[in-house]
Amino acid sequence: MSEHTPAPHPPVLRRAVVTGAAGFIGSHLAHALLGSGTIVIGVDRRDPATDQVAAANLAALQGVPGYMHITADLLNCSVDPLLFEADVIFHLAAVPGVRPSWGPRFNEYVASNILAAQRVMEAAHRMRVPRLVVASSSSVYGPTSGGASVEADHLRPASPYAVTKLAEEQLCLAHAARANCPTEVVALRYFTVYGPRQRADMFIHRALHAALTGQPLSLYGDGHQRRDFTYIDDAVTATIAAATVPNATGAFNVGGGSSASLLEVINIAKSLVGRDIQIHLEPARGGDVLTTLANPARAHEVLGWQPQVDLHNGLRAHMQALAQAAGYGAAA
Ligand code: NAD
Ligand code: UGA
Repeated sequence: MSEHTPAPHPPVLRRAVVTGAAGFIGSHLAHALLGSGTIVIGVDRRDPATDQVAAANLAALQGVPGYMHITADLLNCSVDPLLFEADVIFHLAAVPGVRPSWGPRFNEYVASNILAAQRVMEAAHRMRVPRLVVASSSSVYGPTSGGASVEADHLRPASPYAVTKLAEEQLCLAHAARANCPTEVVALRYFTVYGPRQRADMFIHRALHAALTGQPLSLYGDGHQRRDFTYIDDAVTATIAAATVPNATGAFNVGGGSSASLLEVINIAKSLVGRDIQIHLEPARGGDVLTTLANPARAHEVLGWQPQVDLHNGLRAHMQALAQAAGYGAAA
């Protein structure tokens, strides 16, 4: 380095732990953190050596200097050593998905979404980690009158999944509220996140897949239900801000404040590919709400967060990534 070259700024976060790093949001977050010079310890119970989805999600991270991946289950691993000298824990590991949370898998939801969070929070306390950002969910609001949800609203989760996510965020916040807790907690209520590597059970992935392949799309209900869809890069930006903005605590909506119906998404997908989508109508699923819509004011004012990607551009980027990953050739 010449004497005229200014010294690089040290990264704001020197070392971060990302739980759920082999997942959709966690893998994007880890990648963005590495790009800004943060050492990242990724933890996930899915083993990329045996799990194809985990391997695909982690493909861009493996071998990158500064990234260390640990395959471990937070329900029984030693958490403390993972947190050594961490500036922040991003606790994203969870069993997601609204509809499968009814029935026999409920135990898994309780275990990964509540019991694992308790273990992580206790370890954060012992290891004196200054901040934990926990992934909460728009589903904690439950049914609304259609207006935008504010963090202080009365919460009426309508599915077992949503109940566990509310328990998870409140559990972490309760720890943080204790007088001697060294760990500040920020809970991010993500609103339906989409983009490359979105989980294959989610609607946008399925709609784009149907458009690309010609295979039918199952539509649960009449398609008029609306979501405040959030592009993955915007979700990641909010997540990093939640770790770095001084004195940010409590719950924040991560949703841009506009919604689209499933039918609108289908129409954009059709126009991007230039092919019709064959739709199989199925009954609406219990626990699905009609509308999600974020009031993003608190995230804007405290975190300085402003989403950048509108639905049309986000769907195009998602479509292109899906087409490339699946070898469908150029799309859109
Ligand atoms: P994902 O399933 O792709 O990632 C979650 C990861 O957590 C998985 O790789 C899984 O193996 C891991 N995991 C689960 N239990 C674990 C355990 N006990 N120990 C270690 N690892 C464990 O899900 P995602 O869509 O990336 O969601 C990430 C987080 O964001 C979750 O907490 C989810 O509830 C929340 N969230 C997601 C969305 C969305 O639209 N994707 C919206 C709101 C909230
Ligand atoms: C999504 C995530 O899956 C949850 O993990 C997350 O917590 C939640 O967002 C959130 O915002 O908090 P959801 O809104 O149900 O949950 O998103 P999708 O799974 O993409 O479903 C959206 C809508 O599409 C639902 O009404 C669903 O019934 C419908 N759908 C889904 C279909 O019609 N067909 C499908 O094949 C899949």
